[in-house]
Amino acid sequence: MSGSALNVLITGASSGIGEAVADRFRASGANLFLTGRRSAQATLRPGERYLAGDLNDEAFVSQLVDEAVSEFGPIDSIIACHGLQADGALTDTELGQALELLEANMLSVFSVLKHAVPKIRAGGGQIVLVSSRLGLVGIPGQVMYTAAKGGLIMLGKGAAVELAPRNIRVNIAAPGLTETPAIEAGIQSHSDPDAYRAQRAATIPMRRLAKPAEVAEAIYFLGSKASSYITGAVLPIDGGYTAA
Ligand SMILES: NC(=O)c1ccc[n+]([C@@H]2O[C@H](COP(=O)([O-])OP(=O)(O)OC[C@H]3O[C@@H](n4cnc5c(N)ncnc54)[C@H](OP(=O)(O)O)[C@@H]3O)[C@@H](O)[C@H]2O)c1
Repeated sequence: MSGSALNVLITGASSGIGEAVADRFRASGANLFLTGRRSAQATLRPGERYLAGDLNDEAFVSQLVDEAVSEFGPIDSIIACHGLQADGALTDTELGQALELLEANMLSVFSVLKHAVPKIRAGGGQIVLVSSRLGLVGIPGQVMYTAAKGGLIMLGKGAAVELAPRNIRVNIAAPGLTETPAIEAGIQSHSDPDAYRAQRAATIPMRRLAKPAEVAEAIYFLGSKASSYITGAVLPIDGGYTAA
């Protein structure tokens, strides 16, 4: 593997924001170890690795980290992009659905950190957790998603303080509505998708959704050496949504 290139583990790399983050790190010359649930990653290049599995399964997380380290050596950056978005009014949500949201958005990230942090290079490294604008503010109909993403922010802040003496920085990205397959599918499920898209855009001060590459650029900043004195920060990438 190339000399000073970062060894980067990216979860949720098979789609949307995670795929765009992989593209951004690839452009920087990083060594990529990617994971998602589907069997293949569409943009994988020679020399990169993709391992498919469910991060809710701690045995898979352990295997993932072991394979990444045996492939590349110590990890420099961990970017946790995986997650599950779901709607549901508080009183209509079954306990099982609530647990699923907590597992997919927060507890699985805990597992990744538990197993991967000990494998970070001795001199330090960087971690980015992808939360959401909805980890910072509530909206009706997504209470358990916001609870999970808010919890993820505190997982990141706590880890930042605990790991700072080892020069491991932990920051949290809080994207706004982003044009990924998950969001696009939701828009297309409405009877008038264009009208619904315009309605959602009108709630954002910049009056448009984010492109995955715009979100990936900010995540790349937090997940590379460029942000060397920033830790425990929450960076909204949301067109002004949480400033309003
Ligand atoms: N798009 C937005 O507007 C938006 C806004 C704020 C925050 N976010 C957050 O940004 C992240 C990415 O969102 P996205 O829109 O890019 O979603 P997406 O296109 O649905 O991609 C989600 C990714 O997470 C993986 N994943 C989901 N559950 C997993 C599990 N249990 N184990 C392993 N991998 C799992 C998926 O793998 P497979 O597809 O292979 O199954 C996929 O790679 C999520 O954490 C989301 O909450 C998104």
